[in-house]
Amino acid sequence: MIEYSKIKIKGDKKNSDFFFKYLDEIYKFRKENKIDLNIKNIHHFVIQTKSEFAVSLICEWLMQSPYNYEFSFVHELKRHHVLRFNDQSPDILIQENLSPEEDFVFFQNSLNPKSKENPNIKFIGEVFEVTDLKKLDGILTNTQKVKFQDPLPDKFYDDYIHWTTPSIYTHNSIGYKQRPNAQRTYLMDQEWNFDDEAKARFKLSKDMFNNLSLNKYVLPIDHFATRIYSHDRELAILEYLTLTNYWFWGAYNIGDQNSSTNVCRNLQGDPESISPAKVFTANNTPAFLSFLDGLPCPTENFVQLYGRRLHHFALGVTDGFIGDESKNYRNVDYVVDQLKNSHMQFLDHVIGSCQEGLKQIFSKKSAHSLLITEYIQRCNEFDGFFTKENVAALTKAAGDDDLIT
Ligand SMILES: [Fe+2]
Repeated sequence: MIEYSKIKIKGDKKNSDFFFKYLDEIYKFRKENKIDLNIKNIHHFVIQTKSEFAVSLICEWLMQSPYNYEFSFVHELKRHHVLRFNDQSPDILIQENLSPEEDFVFFQNSLNPKSKENPNIKFIGEVFEVTDLKKLDGILTNTQKVKFQDPLPDKFYDDYIHWTTPSIYTHNSIGYKQRPNAQRTYLMDQEWNFDDEAKARFKLSKDMFNNLSLNKYVLPIDHFATRIYSHDRELAILEYLTLTNYWFWGAYNIGDQNSSTNVCRNLQGDPESISPAKVFTANNTPAFLSFLDGLPCPTENFVQLYGRRLHHFALGVTDGFIGDESKNYRNVDYVVDQLKNSHMQFLDHVIGSCQEGLKQIFSKKSAHSLLITEYIQRCNEFDGFFTKENVAALTKAAGDDDLIT
């Protein structure tokens, strides 16, 4: 069990007394109610896309990441496609909404000009594995007054997922499920199969990833970053800490981009590949004041165009270099060069250096998920997710792209 008072918070972003008062109280409540012992790691992520895009989105993940396509199933008017790395790292579920009725994703997306163009595409949320769902629901519903999409049934099937209503701060939901088997399984009404043409595209995509030797270098999801409004920053973090077993690790001010990057981590000892970090990015001052500060506004500009939503998934890259070390050609440089040759598009070039601690890059936004893929290589066991210089360059590159796409 972690002694929360001993956690030394990193970074230079200032937080209010309000934030620290409730941070303390949330950790105390979690400890008293043994919530950290009940909630375990993230079991899977859910990304919704429209049906016409499902095959292409799966191909993107197969070609750009180490995940494999496992199987598909239908459950309650939603079709899911399971992408898996192994039994320890969270799965990724690509979801299609088969209902003719408009869901909350449609209404969230209708609020902003760019998201309105793709009303069915959105990252839905992450599902945590729990040891005792009934007990957790009792605390979350009765004491914490958390609102769920449906009340927890008295009797529920194995693998039932208990989803919160979307957060007003992030527009994402958190799911909880008990895992009945050692292997990851899902509650399904029926299995579903792609046709031979789709399966051939999957094979081609994965073969390309493997033939380029990217399987030696690219790791599963390391962190996932949500963009929110400046006035929601502290509340979004605190809310997340009331719903999970994550801890506030630290926050860095990216002053010249009028932004900050705030990281919550599972500090129970598992690496990010098993328990990815959750990042929140927000403007320092609201967009409408930026002109008075003479500062750019890439973060809140994104939120105004696309709504509160997940901005990127970051994939880890193994530490190391290729060829003569003096040439400084690192694994991430190789990965990005191979993907560029395969027509994947990136924003800017690989940023940072091993002297600074890590190298990273953003891809262009996927048309099929509206998500950016980041590749991140930490050098010599660097303990962090960015350097201030890197994140300023990444934020600027993504902001420039939002203005032209
Ligand atoms: Fe990132």
